[in-house]
Amino acid sequence: TVQLTMLREGIEEVRKVPRGTNLLEALQGFDDFDFDAPCGGKGTCGKCRVLVDGEVSAPEPQEKRFLSSLTLEKGERLACMITLQGDCVVSPLFNSSGAAIVSDHAVYEGTVDPPFQAVRIEYAPPSLDDQRSNTVRVSESLTRALEQDEQYRSVKLPLHLLNRLSGLVSDTGSSLTLSLLDGFPWAVLPRDAGPGYGVAVDIGTTTVVAYLVHLGSGKVGGIVSGLNLQKSWGGDVISRVQAVIDSGPGPQQRAIAGQLSRMLYRLVEEADILWEDLRGVSIAGNTVMMHLFAGIDPRTIAAAPFIPAFTEMRIESSALLLPRLPLTIPLILLPSISGFIGADIVAGMLATGIREQNKPAMLIDIGTNGEIVLGDRRRIVACSTAAGPAFEGATISCGLGGIPGAINRVFLSPAEEMKWTTIADDLPLGICGSGIIDLMALLVRTGLVDETGRLLPPDELPGDVPEDLRARVREEGFFIARRRDGHDLLFTAKDVREVQLAKAAVAAGIEVLLEEYGIGPEEISRVHLAGGFGSFIDIESAVATGLLPGALTERIVPAGNTAGAGALRVLLSARDFKHVQELAGQVDYVELSGSMSFQEKYVEQMFFSQH
Ligand code: FES
Repeated sequence: TVQLTMLREGIEEVRKVPRGTNLLEALQGFDDFDFDAPCGGKGTCGKCRVLVDGEVSAPEPQEKRFLSSLTLEKGERLACMITLQGDCVVSPLFNSSGAAIVSDHAVYEGTVDPPFQAVRIEYAPPSLDDQRSNTVRVSESLTRALEQDEQYRSVKLPLHLLNRLSGLVSDTGSSLTLSLLDGFPWAVLPRDAGPGYGVAVDIGTTTVVAYLVHLGSGKVGGIVSGLNLQKSWGGDVISRVQAVIDSGPGPQQRAIAGQLSRMLYRLVEEADILWEDLRGVSIAGNTVMMHLFAGIDPRTIAAAPFIPAFTEMRIESSALLLPRLPLTIPLILLPSISGFIGADIVAGMLATGIREQNKPAMLIDIGTNGEIVLGDRRRIVACSTAAGPAFEGATISCGLGGIPGAINRVFLSPAEEMKWTTIADDLPLGICGSGIIDLMALLVRTGLVDETGRLLPPDELPGDVPEDLRARVREEGFFIARRRDGHDLLFTAKDVREVQLAKAAVAAGIEVLLEEYGIGPEEISRVHLAGGFGSFIDIESAVATGLLPGALTERIVPAGNTAGAGALRVLLSARDFKHVQELAGQVDYVELSGSMSFQEKYVEQMFFSQH
């Protein structure tokens, strides 16, 4: 073995690993490790940069694409490209987290009537004449208290509750208060317990957000968010699934469970509440994220016929999935529809109320995949387009998630100069989804990108291109800005291609669903644009690039974090808790792979129309 020392924020951590271990894999073994490896270790993104001191393998050709020989000599390397040959000290160089994430607020508007209940039960104290088990005693009392006809479903009393009851029932009294979720007991509450709190979680491939909500008022009392720490295994779901094929679901389950536990600790601490006040956690995410959180191998989702291990709503004990919490609470894993239409979309449907409307509405979530739902109270259809993570920045050379320093707006000033803004007004670090769409729209409008998606070289520019833009065009790409470390941020021909593929997939998906539903865009009452991207994107830019149909411009509304809002609804409304389970079964899923109609539309949508 060799000794690997990791230095982060001045703290040293040491591990022994077999000689010849890949450095990225070795780093993934450190607890709570926060590291960017968007391409999942293929050597194609150049973002897993580390400073290495020690014996490692010689530079690979891929590394030379991203690092100059001078940089390589200084010890800067790509973690996924090197193997450890002797003892080494490593410091990660680029880390996109640590920075606060721009998070979406989610609110609940409606009657507060949570699926959690506090029920006081009375029972006869145990004695030599009455030696019934605690299970039977409590179950009988619960049956009486809930006025149920049949004996209460005693076998469902969870083990941690039996443990808690054993002291209480024998020693003390003849009554206690139980906290129930959907009629099943989970905890013993103090006599004067209030309605308590719940936490709604949206596990995005890129960002994880958790909302603390008061179950009495329905008010959100705290939000925490961070980049999903599974990013060490790749920026998109396919890389994450590939990592499971290589080393099982365990490492990524531990990463997300550790992260979520720390978020819960922070919420409890910052709101200054007691752990005992927490009644439960609801969780939404795409199907692969739901699998990875549950520690279930998702590999069959990634290849035809794309079969998930589970899609139903599950209520699991935190003791199993979040063992670091100081108490056991129910975790409500929201249902999914298919391998590519996950619980995040089901939650989004709940939040936007699509199923209850008289006129068809659309929900579009452009994240790692582009999921689209269309329907009303009569019928709902949904599809998922393999748009890829271009709009989350992962496949764009200078792309970033929505973090401070990400260029989020690009526009032409009245003096025809290109201007940009960054999140939190920080010095630029890269460009995020809304900035990418703005930039693409600008390039298309001014003819710097032609109809076929070709980024024109300097000597082919049309005569009327504004001077400032003309000066930015280089052989290697379009100059956006100088990064804070002095490097130039360039939008390359390959970046244009990535956006082109992604926009064509989403636009074609929208057309297929309209066709499937038998309506034209003019019949849609509203388009809810979900997610961080949906909130920050400039609609006109999205229409100019052809990502969204122009006919819908007036009816497109940013919907915020609909996955988080749906997860909140499940905590705050017993009706929605029930409804969400039915909803998942009421959607007709339209499979696009192998669909001729989709293929044709996809090819058509590859073109940009100049305005
Ligand atoms: Fe190493 Fe992408 S280049 S993870």
